[in-house]
Amino acid sequence: MPPDVADALARIESQTFIPYIDWFDELGSTNDYALSISADPELPTPRLIWTDRQTAGRGRSGHAWWSARGSLTFSLLLDRDVSQLPPEVWPQISLVTGLAIAEALAEEVPGRSVGVKWPNDIQIDGLKVCGILMEPSPRHSGRLVVGVGINVLNSFRNAPAELRAIATALCDQQTHASEPVAVLLHVLQRWSEFVGRLQQGQLHLPSEWQRRCVLTNRRLRVTMGTAILEGYCRGIDESGALLVETPQGLVRQVAGTVRLIGA
Ligand code: BTN
Repeated sequence: MPPDVADALARIESQTFIPYIDWFDELGSTNDYALSISADPELPTPRLIWTDRQTAGRGRSGHAWWSARGSLTFSLLLDRDVSQLPPEVWPQISLVTGLAIAEALAEEVPGRSVGVKWPNDIQIDGLKVCGILMEPSPRHSGRLVVGVGINVLNSFRNAPAELRAIATALCDQQTHASEPVAVLLHVLQRWSEFVGRLQQGQLHLPSEWQRRCVLTNRRLRVTMGTAILEGYCRGIDESGALLVETPQGLVRQVAGTVRLIGA
């Protein structure tokens, strides 16, 4: 194991809520691995599964997640019973994870606008820098896998123009590029703070989300399967559902893929 990784593991264990870590120099998908071990009732959590090189990453809606060298890929395996979160706030974990990562990345790129695109994308100046894939364990109810992919050193500068128009990496926005190890530590520290606030009832999700939401008051289309909804984004509610104002009234959208329409 490289010394900077060993150092980061020790710091994660001492400075965050995560006492258990599985590190791999190469792995197909950290989510797949986390899901495969999640069936074991004796497995202690919260657990970090982290790999230097992910070869078969998965994204939302069945898409592949391409992890070029220099990207940061990890999953958190969480357990409802040990998370000390009241049941009603457990569904908020997904959006709170996005907010914590946005906070950490904003500190990596001072002066840039870091926003969240419901439900799980993080953008810098409108370009996607991070995606999150949440998956419940199929074999252990109450266990959840939160997979995170962040473009850190995998620059998009030489990528095809159509990719450069939608995605970026931290290093493309920085004068001094951050190392993935340092970004991971920073992200997990912020995540620990946000989850701590959630545990203490000190995090009001709709207003916290409002600070970073890139969709508010924009016209958008949400698709879920064959269902399509169009309207104006009015933020999210306490449960994390997207609020869309349509000619028929305000609609709560609990899942789906969002695209901006118009200017
Ligand atoms: C998205 O489509 O935006 C979500 C991408 C999530 C990718 C991460 S990388 C680590 C974890 N393992 C996976 O196979 N996927 C997630």
